[in-house]
Amino acid sequence: MDVFRVNGGRALRGTVQARGAKNAALPIFAAALLTDEPVTITNVPDLSDIRFMAEIIRHLGAEAERVAPDAWRITAKKLTNRAPYDLVRKMRASVCLMGPLLARLRSAIVSIPGGCVIGPRPIDLHLKGFTGLGCSVSIEGGYVHLDGRHLRGADVFLGGRHGSTALGTANVVMAATLAPGVTRLESAACEPEIVNLCEMLVAMGAKIRGIGSHALEIEGVERLHGTTHRVIPDRIEAGTYIIAGAITGGDVTVEGAIPGHLAALLDKLRESGVPVETPSPTSLRVRGDRPHRRQPVDVITMPHPGFATDLQAQMCALLAITPGLSIITEKVFPNRFMHVPELQRMGADIAIEGASAIIKGQERLSGAPVMASDLRASAALVLAALAARGESWIQRVYHIDRGYDRIDTQLRALGAEIDRLPAEQMPKHLEAGD
Ligand code: EPU
Repeated sequence: MDVFRVNGGRALRGTVQARGAKNAALPIFAAALLTDEPVTITNVPDLSDIRFMAEIIRHLGAEAERVAPDAWRITAKKLTNRAPYDLVRKMRASVCLMGPLLARLRSAIVSIPGGCVIGPRPIDLHLKGFTGLGCSVSIEGGYVHLDGRHLRGADVFLGGRHGSTALGTANVVMAATLAPGVTRLESAACEPEIVNLCEMLVAMGAKIRGIGSHALEIEGVERLHGTTHRVIPDRIEAGTYIIAGAITGGDVTVEGAIPGHLAALLDKLRESGVPVETPSPTSLRVRGDRPHRRQPVDVITMPHPGFATDLQAQMCALLAITPGLSIITEKVFPNRFMHVPELQRMGADIAIEGASAIIKGQERLSGAPVMASDLRASAALVLAALAARGESWIQRVYHIDRGYDRIDTQLRALGAEIDRLPAEQMPKHLEAGD
């Protein structure tokens, strides 16, 4: 296991290239199982979650081959219907294999992944969608058994108490592409990753109307064919580097990003007095060189186009050193505040009240040994450490490697003092116990 040693206080300057989006690539890999023809996927980030998805796909009998540093080819001539617990539990996103298995084989047996540190992760809406399409659903021994012999198009409402569901929408859309008849999906997710998926399905021969809206209409077709598809840039990664520029008082440009995917973040940063520009349709620039002029802001996370929950922890780090009182309310994952106790160890003044974090901005944070608990919480700790005075040690950085392609290398290129070291090199007296 690796750790990061970060020496904070340097303003980051320069340009960083956005990589492909993990949360688009994962359902896109699953969608490749909808055809027996080869599907080539480009702009794929080099992440442990991607390698893991490829492993599950191979376990299901299909071929998944990395054909270039950022391209994969998946050929699902053979396919079995069972995704076991020991694979699914390692990556929750593997639930989005249910839709393609159901569509291709009319049957799927997939382990229920269970919750995770960001809170309960139910799949009731996925199952409601499948039931709506005429499937029988039963749960036995921790597995969902889906019988899709009578799969057919239908009207399905997919909204839940926290709004739409990204992977739930992906699952139901994928199942509907090969279901006879017309499916009308209301309260569908309209995240850019879902748009990217739907565009690939259309390129494979699917008939989908309303892409990018909350109402999708899918006319089932008999078969889909192979294609080559490009994964969109990672808006969460891009947003994280923009916040890195802001929090260190630097000047950072992210190339290859889509500013429109980050409208809610850019709006909040501007409201907070952070100058962000969009120098071109595919780049973003932040000049965070006036930290004393920053204002507190209130942030509410919501499904797209609202403020992304996946940027909440990073924004929390920025607001921890923004003068005044800011409030962040989590409407998507109300318990997603695992980063807060670690930020407190660095001197942040944050109180959790229900689903809100009340943040009293401090003049500065100080470096400390901290523990990463999940992907975005780890990103927040790295950002806080970059801004803090002194040295920080971040343990369990394998969480960050799930979703950021070599974040340490990228940040070093911007002038950060960050080193990846084997855990044995961390001074023993700084290590956290269990
Ligand atoms: N929900 C239900 N029932 C369901 C499904 C979801 O109640 O059947 C609730 C969830 O508990 C949550 C809300 O609906 O309160 C939204 O969850 P959603 O289903 O949209 O999440 P997801 O599709 O499982 C994806 C991303 C997450 C991201 C969320 C929200 C992938 C692989 N994961 O998860 O990404 O936080 O959407 O935008 O796409 C991350 O990258 O760090 C990450 C956690």
